[in-house]
Amino acid sequence: MLSLNVMEEELIGIKNTALSFILEAEDLETLEDVKLQFLGRSGKLTLTIKDITKIPPEQRKEVGILANEVKQTIEDAIKSKSESLKHKTKTVLRKKIDVTNPAILPPLGHLHLVTQAIEEISGIFEKIGFTRVRYPEVEWDWYAFTALNFPPDHPARDDWETFFVKSAPSPKYGPMILTPHTSSGQIREMQRVEPPVRMLNIAKCYRRQSDVSHTAMFHQFETLVIDENISISHLKGVLDYFAKSYFGENRKTRIRPYHFQFTEPSFEVDVTCGVCNGKGCRLCKEGWLEMGGAGMVHPNVLKAVGLDPEKYTGFASGWGVERVLMMKDGIEIDDLRLLYSNNLEFLKQF
Ligand code: DAH
Repeated sequence: MLSLNVMEEELIGIKNTALSFILEAEDLETLEDVKLQFLGRSGKLTLTIKDITKIPPEQRKEVGILANEVKQTIEDAIKSKSESLKHKTKTVLRKKIDVTNPAILPPLGHLHLVTQAIEEISGIFEKIGFTRVRYPEVEWDWYAFTALNFPPDHPARDDWETFFVKSAPSPKYGPMILTPHTSSGQIREMQRVEPPVRMLNIAKCYRRQSDVSHTAMFHQFETLVIDENISISHLKGVLDYFAKSYFGENRKTRIRPYHFQFTEPSFEVDVTCGVCNGKGCRLCKEGWLEMGGAGMVHPNVLKAVGLDPEKYTGFASGWGVERVLMMKDGIEIDDLRLLYSNNLEFLKQF
């Protein structure tokens, strides 16, 4: 005969061992083995329950209740462990590489908005025979002002809010500066080649200015055409051609008298507003947007580079790349400084 105490100890021992095996099981197969080992037909718990008949009848009920509790506990533990093992298997499976999945591509950059504009502008002018050039960003006063017909110490120099480089001035060319406009390229180009000249100079320019519509560094594109018999109609034709190519077929240009030291006559060029098509709206007020300067090259400028103004005439124009970019349909930038802020969220949009 078995005693109640022995049976109870046996049952509790089985429960503890089973629970620790269940806890340690690392896969469903092992868990299944543990189940057989304890709950199977000849499992430890099954055999022990059979032994209940070997204890005195009045004690059987108590042992029976305990045996049921042990069985229930083991079954519950197996069930919950099996759930968690199934979940784990799924996650492991998901981590496996599925070679048929589309690849995760590394982020791809693109050209900066201003570079895109520069390429587009170059393409437009190259089509009609202009040669793209680049000239130094660190320039001499002579190229940026004196040769462009600015008398020495003339206050017109102040209009360009020039940065001066801390360096000894050149006896021939004066102070060293950061070029405030691409017009200095006119002089360098006329020194480089004999007429006919068809220059497109796109370059960085610098001025002491910073607000929503100005950055200290910005870009200009300058045209210069020098040949015999060049007239205002050539200038007007090129301006119209550019406006139509860059802004759209329905855009027109007009020229208004203005003053620049290096051109005579000088003009400001306007382009019809793309929003209202020249009718007048909040953006443009009277249907026209101001684009930049232009004019017929001043005889003194030709003389400065040794060209005979009786033989040669020419026209020039100088506009801001950022400015035309902002006026192109569909591009609205509230603050120009954003262009150079390295803010990827902003740049990715273009
Ligand atoms: N250089 C002038 C500026 O920065 C723009 C300009 C005006 C350029 C008239 C020209 C021109 O070539 O003819 O404001």
